[in-house]
Parts: sequence; C-alpha cells; structure tokens
Amino acid sequence: MRLFYGTGLLGYLGLVQCVTVNFDYESIQLTEETVAALPALSFGNTSDEPLTPRRPRCKVHPGDKTWPSTAEWKGFNASLGGVLLKPTPPGAACYPDHDDYDPERCDFLMGDARRSRFWIDNPLGAVVQWAQGNTCPVEVDPAGECTQGGYPAYVVNATSVRHIQMAVNFSRNKNIRLTVTNTGHEFSGKSTGYGSLSIWIHHLKGIELLDDYTIGEYTGGAAKISAGSEGWEALRVQNGSSPGITIIAPGQGSVGLAGGWLQGGGHSTIAGYYGLAADQVLSLNVVTADGRFVTADVHENRDLFFALRGGGGGTYGIVTSAIVRTYPAHTYVSGLSYSFTTGPSEVNARVYDLFPVAPSFKIESRETFWEAYAEYFAFTKESTAVKGFAFGDVTPVGNDSYTFASMFAFPQASPSEAEALLEPLFERFAALGVNITAPDAVSVPYARVVDPPGPVPGQDLFASRLLPRSLWDDEPRLGDTTRAIRQAVEEGGLQVRSRGYSPTLAIAGYPTTDVSSGINPALRETAMHLVIAVTGEGVVTAHSSPEEWLASHATLEKYTGNLRDLTPDGGAYVNEADVSEPDWQQSFWGSRYPELLKVKRERDPWDLFWGRRMVGSEGWEVETPDEVPSQNGPLCRTGYSY
Ligand SMILES: Cc1cc2nc3c(=O)[nH]c(=O)nc-3n(C[C@H](O)[C@H](O)[C@H](O)COP(=O)(O)OP(=O)(O)OC[C@H]3O[C@@H](n4cnc5c(N)ncnc54)[C@H](O)[C@@H]3O)c2cc1C
Ligand SMILES: *[C@@H]1O[C@H](CO)[C@@H](O)[C@H](O)[C@H]1NC(C)=O
Ligand SMILES: *[C@@H]1O[C@H](CO)[C@@H](O)[C@H](O)[C@H]1NC(C)=O
Ligand SMILES: *[C@@H]1O[C@H](CO)[C@@H](O)[C@H](O)[C@H]1NC(C)=O
Ligand SMILES: *[C@@H]1O[C@H](CO)[C@@H](O)[C@H](O)[C@H]1NC(C)=O
Ligand SMILES: *[C@@H]1O[C@H](CO)[C@@H](O)[C@H](O)[C@H]1NC(C)=O
Ligand SMILES: *[C@@H]1O[C@H](CO)[C@@H](O)[C@H](O)[C@H]1NC(C)=O
Ligand SMILES: *[C@@H]1O[C@H](CO)[C@@H](O)[C@H](O)[C@H]1NC(C)=O
Repeated sequence: MRLFYGTGLLGYLGLVQCVTVNFDYESIQLTEETVAALPALSFGNTSDEPLTPRRPRCKVHPGDKTWPSTAEWKGFNASLGGVLLKPTPPGAACYPDHDDYDPERCDFLMGDARRSRFWIDNPLGAVVQWAQGNTCPVEVDPAGECTQGGYPAYVVNATSVRHIQMAVNFSRNKNIRLTVTNTGHEFSGKSTGYGSLSIWIHHLKGIELLDDYTIGEYTGGAAKISAGSEGWEALRVQNGSSPGITIIAPGQGSVGLAGGWLQGGGHSTIAGYYGLAADQVLSLNVVTADGRFVTADVHENRDLFFALRGGGGGTYGIVTSAIVRTYPAHTYVSGLSYSFTTGPSEVNARVYDLFPVAPSFKIESRETFWEAYAEYFAFTKESTAVKGFAFGDVTPVGNDSYTFASMFAFPQASPSEAEALLEPLFERFAALGVNITAPDAVSVPYARVVDPPGPVPGQDLFASRLLPRSLWDDEPRLGDTTRAIRQAVEEGGLQVRSRGYSPTLAIAGYPTTDVSSGINPALRETAMHLVIAVTGEGVVTAHSSPEEWLASHATLEKYTGNLRDLTPDGGAYVNEADVSEPDWQQSFWGSRYPELLKVKRERDPWDLFWGRRMVGSEGWEVETPDEVPSQNGPLCRTGYSY
C-alpha cells in the first residue's frame, strides 16, 4: 500500500484542488475517482443536508443494525491502506478476564509509563478519565471488568490528508460519531467519544521556518506547523534557529500546537506581550465536514479563517497545518518565584519551573496570609501594564493551612528591571510583616525546551473565570472578588490558580486587528484568568459514585458561581472551563457567538464535528446512564432547533 501511495503521489498532485500544501502528507488527497469506486467515501454537499427528510435520532453505535459490518470496516481499512486501528483500553492489561491481560505491562502502566511518552503516544489519548466513563482504570487487582466505555471504537492513524478526508466522508455518510485527537489533553472529554471513529493526527509531524513570508498585510518570519506538532517541538526548532527567532508555544510542552490550544485561543507566558496563539495564525489548511481540503486565510474561506482562530477546536473542520507568525530573536523573560504559607515552611511551593524556587515564607496569621494575597492580586494592574505574566496559586493543604505559590515573568526586561518592577510588591508584603527576601531575578528563555512525558490520565475537574481589567478600577468589587476566592479556598476546599496577563487587541496585531477572529472578546479585556480546581479530599477517583462526582462538581459550581456573579462582564476560557459551564455561549464567545454559529451551520449541517458546549452543539447530547456529563453513551439529538 505504501508503494501505491508513493507512486501515486504525482497522479494525486495532478488531480487535487488548488490548495498550497505545506507538508508532503497534504499532497496525498482524496479524489473523485477513489470516491466513485466506494460510495461510502463520497463527498458531502452542504446544500443537500437540510433537505434530508428523516434523520436518525442518534449517531449509530456498535450493536445498531446500521453500524457498519466487519466486512465494511475491513473494506474501509483497505481503502485507507491499513491504518485503521481498533485499540482496546490500555488498562486492559490489568484485568485477568481480558484478552489483553498482561501483568508486566500493567506494572509498567502503574509506574514507568508516567515517565515515558507512553500516554501521549497512545491512540486513545484522553487525559480525563471521568469523561471516558472510568470503565477501565489502570490499577492493581481491579474490581469489575474493563470495557471500551467512552473511548472510540476505531481510530484512523492518519498520515495523509487523504486519510482524514476518507474518515470524514465515511463517518458522515455512515452517520458515525467522529472525534479528532492529537494529544488528548482536552480537559472535558472533547477528544474522545463512545462508538466514535477517531481521527488521530498525532503522527503528522513537521515544523519548518519561512524567513520571509507574505500574506495580506503581513511580511516577515513565519513557521509552518503540522497538525501533530507539540509545543516542545516548536521550542526545539526555535532554539536551533540562527539567527534566533521566537515561536509562540504553550506553557506545557506536551500541548498540541494546531489543535484545541490554537483554535480555542491559547495562552503562553508571553501572551501579554505577543498575544494569544490564535493571534499568530496567518493561514490554515483544513479538511471540512464535506470532505474537501481547503486553505483558510485572509483571501479565501474567510469564514473558516474567522472561526478557527478562537472559535473552539474540533468544530469547523480538521486543521492539517497552520502557518503562524514568528518574531525576530529569542524571547527572554526576567523574573522570579516566591511563596508563602500558613503551613510548614519547608514546603517548596512550585508553580512553574522557569525560575529557582525557595522555601516558603511562613506566615502565622491566616488574616495576614489573605492580606498578602490581596496585595498580589492588586499588583496585577501594574504587572499587566508592562505586558508581564503572573502565576499565583493558592492551595488548601489540610489542617486549615494554605499555601500561595507565585511567579512573575517580564518579557524582554533585564533582571534588574524585573526587580525594580517587583520592589513595590515586596514592600507591601513587608508592610504586612511578610518579610520575604525577594530572590534575585534571573533572565531565562520564555519557555523550556523539554520533551515532557505529558500528563497521566487523571480525574481533573475545574472551572474558569476571566476577570476584566475594569475590576481593578473598582476597589469594592476587587475586595469582594478576593473575598470570594478566600471563601472558595477556605470553605469550598478548592484550589484557585491565577494567571495575570492581558492579551489586548493592540498587542494581538495583524491579522487580528484587521480580520475579525472568533476569540472570546472577554479575553481582550482580561487582566487575570482564574482556574478554580477541585483538590484534596474533593478529588474524585475512578470508583467514585455518580453522586460523589456530582457533589464535587456542585461545590465547584457554587464558588465559581460567586465569582461569575461578581464579574458579569467577564467570561470563561473554553480550554480550561467547567464541563457544564452555564450560559456557555456567552461565557466562551460573548458577542461572537451568532457569527460563529452561522459558520458552523453553513460548514457542517451534518453536525459531524461535535463537542459538548462547543459552537452549534445545542442539538445533541451524550445519553449517559447517570448525570455525570461523560462521553460514555450514544450521541443523540435533543430536539433543539436553531
Ligand atoms: C498539562 C496541560 C497543560 C496545558 N497548558 C496550557 C497552556 O499553557 N495554555 C493554554 O492555553 N492551554 C493549556 N492547556 C489546555 C489546552 O489548551 C487544551 O487542553 C487543548 O484543548 C489541548 O489541545 P490538543 O490539540 O493538544 O488536545 P486534544 O485533546 O487532542 O484536542 C483538543 C480539542 O481540539 C480538537 N482538535 C485537536 N486537533 C485538532 C485539529 N488539528 N483540527 C481540529 N480540531 C482539533 C479535538 O477534537 C478536541 O476537541 C493545557 C492542558 C494540559 C492537559
Ligand atoms: C469525500 O467526499 C467528497 C464529496 O463526495 C469527495 O469529493 C472526496 O473525494 C471524498 N474524499 C475522500 C478522501 O474519500
Ligand atoms: C449540491 O446540491 C445542490 C442542491 O441539491 C445542487 O444544486 C448542486 O449541484 C450540488 N453540488 C454538487 C457539487 O453536487
Ligand atoms: C487494518 O489493516 C492492517 C494491515 O492489513 C492490519 O494490520 C490492521 O489490523 C487492520 N485494522 C483493523 C482494525 O482490522
Ligand atoms: C501510526 O502511524 C505511525 C506512522 O506511520 C507509526 O509510526 C505508528 O507506529 C502507528 N501507530 C500505531 C499504534 O499503529
Ligand atoms: C537552547 O537549549 C539549551 C539546552 O536545553 C539551553 O541551555 C538554552 O538556554 C536554550 N536557548 C534558548 C534561546 O532557548
Ligand atoms: C494535621 O495535624 C495533625 C495534628 O497536629 C497531624 O498529625 C497531621 O499530620 C496534620 N496533617 C497535615 C496534612 O498536615
Ligand atoms: C519583619 O521585619 C520587621 C522590620 O524589620 C520586623 O519588625 C518584624 O518583626 C519582621 N516580621 C517577621 C514576621 O519576621
């Protein structure tokens, strides 16, 4: 089959539509000829769909009489050249009754796997296990049996655009649920789904620098980013570049570059200096729901260019590559880490490992702890004014003790400038008796080039709130907000993480300034982004009952709700949000929602791409046996009409 692709390449090139390919894998495309031979692969016609008289209520799932037969899957696999996978859950190795039982492998999964690339290279991805349904937890002597649950039924290990088009056409024509997975980092299960055909784009690798790229009003450095690239891979290319350049990459190196991160907004430690990931996009190559391969930029398919820059991953099409801006010279940040605690001072509270970490400063009084926190909070106005980035996480550590760990990073500042900027903050701390000796600021590359193992599947549960700059001009409301955070931490037992940065429109630059994007307008007004997380005893396990999960979620919602009430002019960041965010259309996209919905309806009248609380998702929901909003159940119509 490889031979077939190899020798067929030029032939395909002759037949393809007019898309500038960024990578070789993009020149291998689906043609009308292949489609004629296998009608299940035929392209879609967006004008036809609304006329379809009787549509099935649910997407087909394994066991349905319309689920493709084994022979059909075999035929599909053959047209794909054999890249169709039918993976069983990795945890199956721990279950004596399962065909894949393998105690040694189970040991590996319990231990060394978490220090390797095992999980990120797993075709079933899915970092969040409650969203999968917890149907096959990795554990010693597991109780119960291991089932597929919310993991996909089949996975296309895509190595060409043609594979992606075939999977899009096949699932659309056969009414199969489609999911798209790169790293599986998505926090609420949008890259997984029961009975789905998953397009796994993880192996589409490659990053190339373009010294002089011109499009629209832009001329300058750029980088071609393939769909399977991870953050650290961009940093590696950046690090090796001569003369030095900067590519914007996420804070954690394992996050994918062209998927959920970029399409949902995408922050980094230099987001307040260069803008969001979506602001960097100059051009995108995309397979749309009808199976076509197109370019979206300022010249063509501007609706997609608008929606894919911030309108949410996995909604409008599958991005096969992106061209993003780069900046001359490496970007250095100067700053420092510090922490204080009411608990044991030997705790090395760590937020983000750019700077050396010192032991925490011990504060005896809880009141003083929160007064110092309020000073950190108020300082956001000053740090964002100079395009800085702050971290500040407050965590309940048990026994009514609390730890605060923080970091400030100032792009393109010298260490002495960073120290001068932070001096007033440390003076305010000292005035409270919090005599932290400010560590010397150091200058480091804005992100570290490490090939990270990637996160291990877990049970994360959190919510997001974007706090508008206007809050810092309204002292009573600012005070109420820090008090609401204190209540969430002390009473709710929640961790409140904060990220202080302001990715304003002025900072975003071209094309965002000239060509509208789907980015949440609330992000433009943001000075601080909160992530409110379930921690400690509230964390659910693979064996928590639905009631326990719901109770944990209800606590999260209660205290997030207080913050929401205080910031009606704020919003939430779709990539780090509550799986059940209320009034999500407003929270995630505000005034952009109607236009995004229009693009979605026009481009995907089949609702082929679906994600809970994503644009145009209102017409469907996953039918689960309980109230936990997992992906473990058939995807069915709700009866909602637009
Ligand atoms: C450890 C960790 C650190 C993080 N750090 C940051 C951070 O620093 N900044 C930040 O902004 N966010 C961060 N996030 C959140 C991150 O942005 C989201 O989880 C994001 O959805 C991940 O995108 P992905 O493509 O890597 O993951 P996936 O789970 O593979 O995909 C996420 C979503 O995008 C869709 N998708 C993936 N690829 C494509 C594609 N090529 N075309 C169309 N749709 C696609 C998927 O279907 C899914 O809906 C972090 C997450 C984790 C787990
Ligand atoms: C997908 O379907 C479209 C429309 O019928 C067709 O033009 C295209 O060739 C198909 N692509 C593949 C890869 O099957
Ligand atoms: C799509 O359908 C419309 C309406 O039925 C028809 O006019 C048009 O020719 C079709 N387009 C293609 C490419 O088949
Ligand atoms: C698809 O075909 C390849 C090559 O023949 C084979 O190795 C693989 O197991 C097949 N996939 C499925 C799901 O049967
Ligand atoms: C997926 O395809 C890539 C590239 O061909 C290959 O290296 C990898 O082993 C495949 N993964 C699986 C699970 O088959
Ligand atoms: C490049 O990588 C090396 C080794 O990890 C590191 O020491 C150096 O600081 C990096 N340089 C930049 C500009 O990122
Ligand atoms: C809480 O305090 C008790 C009694 O002083 C002690 O035994 C326990 O270890 C403490 N727990 C934590 C989490 O610090
Ligand atoms: C902080 O420093 C001040 C002035 O030097 C001193 O009076 C005070 O006791 C110190 N407080 C603590 C908690 O160390």
